[in-house]
Amino acid sequence: MVIKNVHLFYFSPTYTTKKTVKAIAEGLGADFVEHDLTFSFESEEEFYLQKDEIAIVGVPVYGGRTPVITRNMLNKIHGDNSLAVAVAVYGNRDYDDALLELKDILSENGFSVIAGGAFIGEHSYTRKVGTRRPDDEDIAKAVAFGKDIRAKVDSDTYTKNIDVKGNFPYKADMPVRVFSPMANKNCIYCRKCHIVCPVGAIDKKDPEIVDVEKCIHCYACVKICTFNGREIPGNPLKDIVAFLETKCSERKEPEIFI
Ligand SMILES: Cc1cc2nc3c(=O)[nH]c(=O)nc-3n(C[C@H](O)[C@H](O)[C@H](O)COP(=O)(O)O)c2cc1C
Repeated sequence: MVIKNVHLFYFSPTYTTKKTVKAIAEGLGADFVEHDLTFSFESEEEFYLQKDEIAIVGVPVYGGRTPVITRNMLNKIHGDNSLAVAVAVYGNRDYDDALLELKDILSENGFSVIAGGAFIGEHSYTRKVGTRRPDDEDIAKAVAFGKDIRAKVDSDTYTKNIDVKGNFPYKADMPVRVFSPMANKNCIYCRKCHIVCPVGAIDKKDPEIVDVEKCIHCYACVKICTFNGREIPGNPLKDIVAFLETKCSERKEPEIFI
């Protein structure tokens, strides 16, 4: 089959999903149109893909699921029996039902999901888990995955709906959190945190002011800060971080379904 256009869609507050889907697109070996959905939670824009177009759609894994904030965005991507590749990027713990959920959303919205992949990114909560991933090895695997997708599409005889790992009913969403990262004494008021916040939860002028109702706990503000100027007061995630650092430090590898 001749693919007319490749579209990349991703939500990626700390950039690991973005790097991964771009490497897959590179492997596919065609020009692509990039749709960064990270700041699109209020956007009304709908996307309609034709039969001869392919969407590569990537989301990070939050609590073993697709992030709640992405589901509305994903439902704005419509296919007309178009092809899609589902990509979940997780922080070396587990992706549980996220890839299956993403695949199901794409299928329900008119796509034939011809490939899926679970890749690893540095964990948003701690630099000690999945450190600096996706690394060169991950990127090479993502590029190779893109090449396999290209070969599959070119072969013309292929399964149009692949199976991926995961269970339905999906596991329950994470509980809604009532705390958020705040500025600490290291903050120099550079306001980069405000710029990277996907939901505008951090005040433009005063990084000490945070709308905790808006915050999605993506850690983009913590990760971008080179001064260690943001943290959650009282460190309520310390047990989770300790679990991740002790039980999830063994390197996991990307899993491909094609
Ligand atoms: C709220 C939240 C929940 C997360 N839940 C999981 C999880 O269930 N399993 C896992 O391995 N990583 C989990 N992570 C880590 C992210 O999936 C991982 O760091 C991913 O690479 C972030 O993608 P991004 O860089 O595109 O934002 C979670 C991160 C956040 C912020």
